[in-house]
Amino acid sequence: MAIQVVILAAGQGRRMYSNQPKVLHRLGGKALLEHVILTALKISPETPPIIVYGHQGERLQEALGHYSVRWAEQQDQLGTGHAVLQAMPFVADDDRVLILYGDVPLISEQTLTRLIQATPPDAIGMVTVHLKQPTGYGRILRDAMERVMGIVEEKDASEVERAITEINSGIYILPAVHLKNWLPNLNNQNAQLEYYLTDVISRGVKEKVAIYTVQPRQFEEILGVNDRVQLAHLERFYQHQYAEKLMRQGVTICDPHRLDIRGDVEIGRDVTLDVNVILEGRVVIGHGCVIGPNTFLRNTTLGVNVEIKANSIIDGAEIAAEAIIGPFARIRPGTVLASKVHIGNFVELKNSQIDEGSKVNHLSYVGDSEVGKRVNIGAGTITCNYDGVNKHKTVIGDDVQIGSDTQLIAPVTVGAGATIAAGSTIIKDAPPHQLTLTQHIDQRSMADWERPKKQG
Ligand code: UD1
Ligand code: CA
Repeated sequence: MAIQVVILAAGQGRRMYSNQPKVLHRLGGKALLEHVILTALKISPETPPIIVYGHQGERLQEALGHYSVRWAEQQDQLGTGHAVLQAMPFVADDDRVLILYGDVPLISEQTLTRLIQATPPDAIGMVTVHLKQPTGYGRILRDAMERVMGIVEEKDASEVERAITEINSGIYILPAVHLKNWLPNLNNQNAQLEYYLTDVISRGVKEKVAIYTVQPRQFEEILGVNDRVQLAHLERFYQHQYAEKLMRQGVTICDPHRLDIRGDVEIGRDVTLDVNVILEGRVVIGHGCVIGPNTFLRNTTLGVNVEIKANSIIDGAEIAAEAIIGPFARIRPGTVLASKVHIGNFVELKNSQIDEGSKVNHLSYVGDSEVGKRVNIGAGTITCNYDGVNKHKTVIGDDVQIGSDTQLIAPVTVGAGATIAAGSTIIKDAPPHQLTLTQHIDQRSMADWERPKKQG
């Protein structure tokens, strides 16, 4: 007996006014539907969730097909009951079916676990919430003994029923055998002419199936996204939750309202995140790092005690312990920095390895390069890695000193211990332990020269 998770995602999402399917809009850097798939896989890891899709199925499959999921098409959107029916061919009679929604991204594993635990296998469990403003939701009907009697949709409700504040989240767990019996017999005699999934509840009552309800810890868990206002609202809720979790794990966040996490992060103890930090993709930050204001880190790993100063952009890099980066550094994919490397302002690095203790402190571009230990690269040094067609490599040995304003025309190697004089254009390999210079400076001073004076 497995728990089969069915995720309804066939709705059009007209109110998004978007060319993109609604459930692919992003929250915390992940598609709405992706959040639900990940939660489903935590609840039932062995059983791929069944996604009921309608329009633009190819786009959903293209975006999320790498997850272990099954796809069930609902050609016409005839209602939530009709949608669940489309998933039934994947389900065995003795399974339990958990219904989730592709546009309700924040339902938590904890709430679902409580739902499953509170509901015996032959009973129905539902997630309900008390809302001060229940408008738009189906209302839970209970009898004098507080037993659930059914759900009435807002559009079909009487005035008395509309006053009920306990609403239906739409999330249920039910025995598959009942769904298989009941769903084909639903009717659409209601205000919306739809086949309502909610009607299975009153059917269950009629057949004396026990019904249990649980409430989520926070009502945002059951909120759906129908337009971009609701999306932004849930984004802020999600970000605040994430920040709170990090703070409880020992991260100092200067202002939790000014941190955005768009992916999965792992952050050590005694890390400080200053304001306007954006972490995207998979970001790992070691103990004791200090991340300055207005910084963007994507798919990056930082060792312990790294300092990233203000306004730096770091993408696809591995940075070892005690490195100091920025302010205003740009580090691009494929960059690997060893411990104690210093990268200063207006320095761009790309696809380069820089070994322990080396410094590139001012106004430089280092690309497709291998730089040894204890190297100093002077201000304004450029690795000319691109001949207009191909990229070439620059290799710089240990203990090299590169003078300011040097161009290294790749492919080129600067031997260990070499010194390159300022302003050089290095077109062939520079031997180790020698001074190499290319400039022919003709410096003169003219004693009888006068500065031009302003006319009139
Ligand atoms: C539904 C519930 C309502 C509940 C509310 C919670 C029904 C009849 N009503 O109402 O009691 O309070 O959710 O948000 O179930 N979908 C399909 N195929 C369809 C119709 C819908 O996949 O044919 C999907 C939609 O993409 C959406 C979800 O099901 O994700 C809910 O559909 P929607 O029409 O928005 O239901 P509500 O009217 O909000
Ligand atoms: Ca809805």
